[in-house]
Amino acid sequence: MDFLTIKEAMAQGGGTVSVRGWVYRERGSAKVKFVVLRDGTGILQCVIKRDVVGDEAFAVADKLQVEASLELHGEIRVDERAPTGFELQVQSFTVVGESDTFPITKDQSPEFLLDKRHLWLRSRKMQAILKIRATLFKTFREYFDSRGFIEYHSPIFQSTQCEGGSSLFRVKYFDAETFLAQTWQLYAEPAIFSYEKLYTIAPSFRAEKSKTSRHLTEYWHAEMEQAWASFEDIKAHGEGVLKAMVGAVLEKHAEELAVLKRDPKLLKPTIEKPFPRMTYTEALRILKERCGMDVPWGKDLRTVEEDKLSKLYDTPIIIDGYPKAVKAFYMKEFPDDPRVVQGCDFIAPEGYGELIGGSARETSLEKLKERLKADGEKLEDYEYYFDTRRYGSVPHGGFGLGMERVISWVCGLDSIKDAIPFPRTPLRWTP
Ligand code: 4AD
Ligand code: MG
Repeated sequence: MDFLTIKEAMAQGGGTVSVRGWVYRERGSAKVKFVVLRDGTGILQCVIKRDVVGDEAFAVADKLQVEASLELHGEIRVDERAPTGFELQVQSFTVVGESDTFPITKDQSPEFLLDKRHLWLRSRKMQAILKIRATLFKTFREYFDSRGFIEYHSPIFQSTQCEGGSSLFRVKYFDAETFLAQTWQLYAEPAIFSYEKLYTIAPSFRAEKSKTSRHLTEYWHAEMEQAWASFEDIKAHGEGVLKAMVGAVLEKHAEELAVLKRDPKLLKPTIEKPFPRMTYTEALRILKERCGMDVPWGKDLRTVEEDKLSKLYDTPIIIDGYPKAVKAFYMKEFPDDPRVVQGCDFIAPEGYGELIGGSARETSLEKLKERLKADGEKLEDYEYYFDTRRYGSVPHGGFGLGMERVISWVCGLDSIKDAIPFPRTPLRWTP
């Protein structure tokens, strides 16, 4: 028997079809059983009638529980009353796997749903999010593939920090100690001297204790690094790839956005308008004038400030020119003002936080050493990295994009935990 997906069966719209999937909802009477069937592509109402299938089969249908798996054969036709506008008049069916009483019913707490995440993955909400997630990954790859970048991989066990020691996961490594990757960056920079244009999508790890709606301890980090690139080139790629990613979701996922009750109109400006750009110093002025928030120059922007600022715009904004002291050691100084660095953050609209962090990289070995020393790092640990500045150093730069941050924003999620199949946070590492 050839099975059609529910989507294919509905596209066919009439005639005899075979479909298979899981019971999404069921209700019935003495004579007729309604089963809403779910598969990887959609849902379809199926009607099983006692006078069509016979008493014995009807008794089986009558006992069906939510999430039992089934194969069904029958006639599909338009029915405006059915949830998706089509109905299958079942002629015969087979139960493939019965289901115990499914533990997930309506109105359960987010924590319960996380405990049962392995089952909650079957929900239409998670299905919609994970389909959009896949498109965002694919589009990031396509954007860079089509521009001559190659996919390149760094180790996950790493010997140094890159984004600050306080968020490092320390791992016992036989008799030594190593760290889980915070970023691929210090292993991508050596490779630009060979391949010039690189990207990756890989897990990064941050031991951030903060229990916020936007931090995971394990997240998927999409990064690029490019030889000969200017700071402007890096910002342009950040804007370009975000436009491509959001554009792909708007083009392919109207249905999933509807399941998530996410208004596509909120995403449209991102593909239609240039992203506003401002320096850190200008951002402080805007915060003061338009939000009544007074941030002393030199202090990093906190979540509350980023959120207030982001709500003034309907696209991501790009802030650059941060004070050197609040940014990582590898960011290049501005030639005309060494107090500030050529590092940029892309802040999402609607308070979804930082989507991208990027920079031009410092090429002066002496300056790198000074900055690392000031951070209390042991210079000998960075010898391999210093070699990148010793043999034919070139201007270069790159960025890192948090995939789950982008997914949360695009899908309009309350928590970043729903942007990944099995979230890891300080308080959750099971199932
Ligand atoms: O700004 P970050 O720390 O930058 C870097 O790691 C650079 N080395 C990247 C580069 O230039 N190659 O992290 C980059 C992005 C952030 O903008 C944010 O979107 C995401 O990673 N991110 C997190 N996402 C989820 N949970 C966390 N705990 C995150 N920490 C950072
Ligand atoms: Mg950052």
